[in-house]
Amino acid sequence: MKLVLLGANGQTGKLVLEAVLAKDIDVTAVVRSADKAPDLQHKSLQVMVGDPCDPVFLTSVFRDHDAVISALGGRLPSKVATSVYYRSTVAIVEAASVTGLKRVLVTSTALLFPNQTLLGKLLRFVVPNAVRSAGRMDKILKRPGPDWTSARAGFLNDVSVATYRAQREALPENSTAVSRLALAQFLITAISNSETQGAAYGVSQAST
Ligand SMILES: NC(=O)c1ccc[n+]([C@@H]2O[C@H](COP(=O)([O-])OP(=O)(O)OC[C@H]3O[C@@H](n4cnc5c(N)ncnc54)[C@H](OP(=O)(O)O)[C@@H]3O)[C@@H](O)[C@H]2O)c1
Repeated sequence: MKLVLLGANGQTGKLVLEAVLAKDIDVTAVVRSADKAPDLQHKSLQVMVGDPCDPVFLTSVFRDHDAVISALGGRLPSKVATSVYYRSTVAIVEAASVTGLKRVLVTSTALLFPNQTLLGKLLRFVVPNAVRSAGRMDKILKRPGPDWTSARAGFLNDVSVATYRAQREALPENSTAVSRLALAQFLITAISNSETQGAAYGVSQAST
């Protein structure tokens, strides 16, 4: 297994990177500037610097890799910042079609699920750009192309808990929170879990 990790310097990305290296999985970590490269040395780690929304760059990264995990997400709720969801997905799908990369896993927002609590309904008005961009990402993934899984989270936190509940096409009941560590674990487990292919999964903390 050779994995590409986009957003490797982000908070969830860093945890995915640590977890895959602990399993000795070969990983190419992508960051958009050299100063954001992981401060790690590992025989299974390669780092590439470039724009994850550029299909030509991603094509050069994807060659000889089996799967990509994207932990990309806008750092602000603006239209421009949140557009990274769908712009990177366009590039991922194009590069996958050129290189034959077969598996795509992305992080997304649980605000896309239709059954929202009152708080969820309010949040959809607060961060409409993130919801729209994540929706466009989903539509792109649903076209014929690589096998995909979208991990949709509610509120991320940095609690040191790696367990989670995951539900197909819904956020598990009674919790909208999940740790980044648990989200990272879901993504890594889902790479080789064919049941998760072609679907969005709500990922929440294990106990409430
Ligand atoms: N925070 C929450 O409560 C929450 C809730 C639901 C879903 N999510 C989603 O969960 C995922 C992980 O969240 P997180 O808080 O761990 O992420 P994060 O720490 O904010 O990291 C975001 C990553 O995306 C990259 N990125 C952002 N804009 C980019 C652009 N225009 N071009 C290239 N790279 C760009 C960042 O790189 P740079 O350092 O170069 O900017 C960074 O690597 C994201 O998809 C997020 O949207 C978060």
